[in-house]
Amino acid sequence: MSRYLLSIDQGTTSSRAILFNRQGEIAAVAQQEFTQHFPRDGWIEHDPEDIWESVVATCKEVLVKASISAGEVAGVGITNQRETTLLWDRTTGKPLYNAIVWQDRRTSDTCQTLREAGHTDSVQAKTGLLIDPYFSATKLAWLLENVEGARERAERGELAFGTVDSFLIWRLTNGKQHVTDATNASRTALFNIHTQQWDEDLLALFNIPANLLPSVKDSSDDFGMMEAEWLGAELPIAGVAGDQQAALVGQACFTPGMGKSTYGTGCFMIVNTGDTPALSRNRLLTTIGYRLNGKPTYALEGSIFVAGATVQWLRDGLNLFADAAETEALAKETRLGHSVYLVPAFTGLGAPHWDPKARGAIFGLTRDTGIAEIVAAGLQAVCYQTRDLQHCMNDDMDATPSKLRVDGGMVKNSWLMQFLSDMLDVEVDRPTILETTALGAAYLAGLRLGWYDSLEEIEQLWNCEKSFMPTMEDAPREQLYQGWLDAVSRVRSGE
Ligand code: G3P
Repeated sequence: MSRYLLSIDQGTTSSRAILFNRQGEIAAVAQQEFTQHFPRDGWIEHDPEDIWESVVATCKEVLVKASISAGEVAGVGITNQRETTLLWDRTTGKPLYNAIVWQDRRTSDTCQTLREAGHTDSVQAKTGLLIDPYFSATKLAWLLENVEGARERAERGELAFGTVDSFLIWRLTNGKQHVTDATNASRTALFNIHTQQWDEDLLALFNIPANLLPSVKDSSDDFGMMEAEWLGAELPIAGVAGDQQAALVGQACFTPGMGKSTYGTGCFMIVNTGDTPALSRNRLLTTIGYRLNGKPTYALEGSIFVAGATVQWLRDGLNLFADAAETEALAKETRLGHSVYLVPAFTGLGAPHWDPKARGAIFGLTRDTGIAEIVAAGLQAVCYQTRDLQHCMNDDMDATPSKLRVDGGMVKNSWLMQFLSDMLDVEVDRPTILETTALGAAYLAGLRLGWYDSLEEIEQLWNCEKSFMPTMEDAPREQLYQGWLDAVSRVRSGE
């Protein structure tokens, strides 16, 4: 009897495998961090073998932790860091180069040239995206130009491109499937979100041969069988979505206007816009929230590149504390009006600034500034950036939602959640299950495998653990936020 769904959550800093039961409850979790490579300023890479090995190892470990065999698993859902770009050999499955990570800025100049040549509007109209190094297209073009022999081999049909989901499915099915889902495709800047096809004009613009591309499926679909070689039994891969879209599903934001903010390595606010691919006036992204039965549900997204990564930097880079859980107690030691602002533009700024050449800074240091103030400023930066997004989102949607669902590792920090609620002046709802990304992938697989009949059934499973209500007066809120805007203006590159 199959009692569980296995969700693979391949994130930016770690890979996780989580087993869920039919009620969406967690049975076991396994997690492995892997090495980040920073070969030059603004470059970020992952070793694809680290990604692969950590996925297989965590899948095996989670079965051991739950004391079950693969025979008790009904199927697999996959969710992943999006945009990260891989190119591999179709015969050997061996990558030609490291994975170029979504945060990587090496194609900044290429993007600037494309913007100056006037391509912004046509790219946005087709893809819903802006021209920025964030998305896969220029990363793939960089690989084809800079890895010796890659372009010739690509023209001969010997290579395959994929985001992390495609690469994992290729390996898990022993090269039988070269596929992705519509949410991941929508982040490449090569996929037309209206026609739901790879777009010939975009392929020409970025100089990408069509034969490199995976076929694009629904988010709940038949993605092939995970071979028995990996876990001891063949398992259907039945749900796939980019991690932020999977979180939208895991948070049951199925009604237009409902939104969530996920605080992982970065922070991503996504609001469901239903059948309408709303174009942003405020430099947010239009993206596919999920695609079921061939029908896309669209969403607006605000993407902040650094959220939890600030905490990781404060811990590992500056050694200010040993465990992220200590940040709550440290932040509580500070007084509200301390003057420190930390702008975590380590890899440039995402929405709404889209400034790949901006870099981070700490402002407002005084003689009594200590570790606690710097840590608090790092946490507060996440809230200020969410407010930047909220402003754009409300303007684009012409609405002022009074609630926001939150998830991701950082939201365990209640001090942070209270400050977020105060800064946004909205109710912030923290669900019982914080692993909404993995949960969303499991739900997508469950829909395909007949565990759930409808999104309404899934909606019933969402539970709130705690609501945070705003308590701050308007005057201090605005004063604090003005200080943030001033700090951001000082790190902008001016381009
Ligand atoms: O777009 C990048 C995003 O998918 C990365 O997510 O959870 O690794 O911060 P995360």
